[in-house]
Amino acid sequence: MRHGVEVVPDKRALMEAGAAAFAAAARAAIAAHGRFVTALSGGSTPRALFELLATERFAASIDWSRIHVCWGDERAVPPDADASNYRMAREALLDHVPIPPSQVHRIRGEEPPMIAAAAYERTLRTLFATPVGPPRPVPGARFDLVLLGMGDNGHTASLFPGLQAVRETERWVVAESVAEVRMWRITLTPVVLNGAAEVLFLVSGGDKASMLHRVLDGPVRPDTYPAQIVAPHHGRLRWLVDTDAAAELEER
Ligand code: 6PG
Repeated sequence: MRHGVEVVPDKRALMEAGAAAFAAAARAAIAAHGRFVTALSGGSTPRALFELLATERFAASIDWSRIHVCWGDERAVPPDADASNYRMAREALLDHVPIPPSQVHRIRGEEPPMIAAAAYERTLRTLFATPVGPPRPVPGARFDLVLLGMGDNGHTASLFPGLQAVRETERWVVAESVAEVRMWRITLTPVVLNGAAEVLFLVSGGDKASMLHRVLDGPVRPDTYPAQIVAPHHGRLRWLVDTDAAAELEER
């Protein structure tokens, strides 16, 4: 049985729904506990979402002074590189909204990956006042919203098929060399992803249809389909997908 799958007509509707969900989650968290801590995704899908959030219609409805922005993963590149997830979010969103720079917590892709991972974990543990152990399911001690995408090979964040990060049970952040993309990646682990209050996947396009079917309808094999590992223990899981991506799903 699947939970929380919402199918929308096309990519444009997906972005509208994603931006509305982001803005609603931000308003709710700020009203409930005074701040909103989110982790952004990388790749190409979220650029349109970030651009939409930067428009007056959405940006004006969000109190950016109370938002903390983090990332779900980063490529081992400097912050001005084309492949940098930070750079993409900065250009599409962060440069256009009044978010205090001290509340932008980027992963330092220019550092040696293991060092960048450990430093980012320290940043998150400080942000969530949790020096040891997993995120606690209380306000202010976990991500309010994690945005994720899914690759056509079933990866999410930088949890790739057959690698170790998907099996991590202690660390919040790990670095791993990913042969498939010939690059080191730094990624949140299931420990922190599944500690979030809400996780929202955005998936668009027919090239994802076969994998989405396997991830959502198939047997649970997270080593093969890492996106299946994401299931918040005390939170909400939503899959927002367009009709092209949903084409092979067994039930609606
Ligand atoms: C990254 C990601 C990654 C991404 C998927 C899907 O840094 O590449 O965070 O997990 O979400 O590869 O990317 P698209 O949605 O652009 O296809």
